[in-house]
Amino acid sequence: MSNVAPPLPPGDLDPYRPEALEDPYPLYARLREQGPATYEPERDIWLVPGYAEAAAVLRDHRSFVSGDGATYESALGRTERYPLIETDPPEHTRIRRAVQPPFARAEIEHLRPGIEAAATEIVDGALARGEVDAVPDLAQPMPDRAMALLTGLVPPSCQALVDWSDAVVRAQEPGADPRHGELLGAALAWMIGEGIPGLPAHCLGRLITDEGGTTGGLHAEGPERLMTLASIWLAGVDSTGALLGNAIDAFTEFPDQWELLRARPDLIGNAVEELLRFEAPFRVFYRRTRAQAQVGGVAIPAGATVCAVLGSTGRDPRQFADPDRLDVTRENARTHLALGTSIHLCLGAPVARLEATAMLTELTRRVARFERTGDAVRSPSGTMRKFDTLPVRLVPAGGRA
Ligand code: HEM
Repeated sequence: MSNVAPPLPPGDLDPYRPEALEDPYPLYARLREQGPATYEPERDIWLVPGYAEAAAVLRDHRSFVSGDGATYESALGRTERYPLIETDPPEHTRIRRAVQPPFARAEIEHLRPGIEAAATEIVDGALARGEVDAVPDLAQPMPDRAMALLTGLVPPSCQALVDWSDAVVRAQEPGADPRHGELLGAALAWMIGEGIPGLPAHCLGRLITDEGGTTGGLHAEGPERLMTLASIWLAGVDSTGALLGNAIDAFTEFPDQWELLRARPDLIGNAVEELLRFEAPFRVFYRRTRAQAQVGGVAIPAGATVCAVLGSTGRDPRQFADPDRLDVTRENARTHLALGTSIHLCLGAPVARLEATAMLTELTRRVARFERTGDAVRSPSGTMRKFDTLPVRLVPAGGRA
């Protein structure tokens, strides 16, 4: 009798199948059962779904490089790379040092008053309406406001920014539509033609474009300064919007956790980590091999495309007990990989955390519970786990509404 598992139907483990996009967690569980790394022939990718193995891939930047592309689409056909996410040391180190200081926790604290005021205004508007689409009415306006405060770039509208940020991600995934590339071009054209000329005197945008960052290390010749600013600006919108939409859905599904958070606002910081663990906004990030490598004892050939399935790592029972349950008191929630790890750890993590904390603080004070009022629609994005539409009623807390 053979011990070999029967072959799976072609495409069975493809994470980009529509059913897997709608509810990826059953597929992720099967992938973890398959072993540390599984080759998916339809997409020609190696899927790494386990927490420990994906963390090892992300930490080993010599074997698993970002310079050939950190998304599904390889960067090998392009002459330019996104300055942070698609570079490796020493280039990555030089660029990261130039932009890291403004992202220190103490620096980001300066944004707090503006971000908290934005949270109050956003929740005021939503409560005045009562029944809202949580995506445009609660989730998306916060990163729109926060990125303007952070960078100094004030886009023509929240919707334009949301569409541009979505396009950056979608242009690099299977089934990319030429429209996504056009939108990305429009974003860059706006940034160069209107955004940068309109920047205030002292802001992150000027620090990067005029001075080459804190160290002055960003090259003045070529597009490096512009693309560094664009990367930071557009990386922070769709991702944080996804987190906030997913959060409202999660608390609709787990009302006991909302009640607990309302009673224990000291848990809000941990709740943000738990929400990131529970539904990683970026389902996947990629690396490439240039020589043979291994993942948990599985040999990966040179020239392979390796997919760290971040969405699966948060549900790995070897790392998180009872992983399909949202638990705002979870002690190791903060060990999630939803913001990456090691040298490419999310640069904007303190900003995203501040935005989510401000929104949850305001909402827990003023909303007793969320009730679904219609069908929610998930985005077809194969990269970003987010909603396109999330109709909810905000039931005001007693007293102040
Ligand atoms: C909840 C919101 C966010 C999530 C889930 C998220 C997730 C991630 C992840 C997983 C990575 C690592 C990618 C890799 O290893 O290849 C990353 C990197 C990055 N993120 Fe975020 N991010 C968020 C918000 C932000 C914000 C607000 C900004 C900007 C203010 C930002 C800017 C960046 C940049 C520039 C990088 C590249 C860092 C590098 O390669 O050194 N992100 N993010």
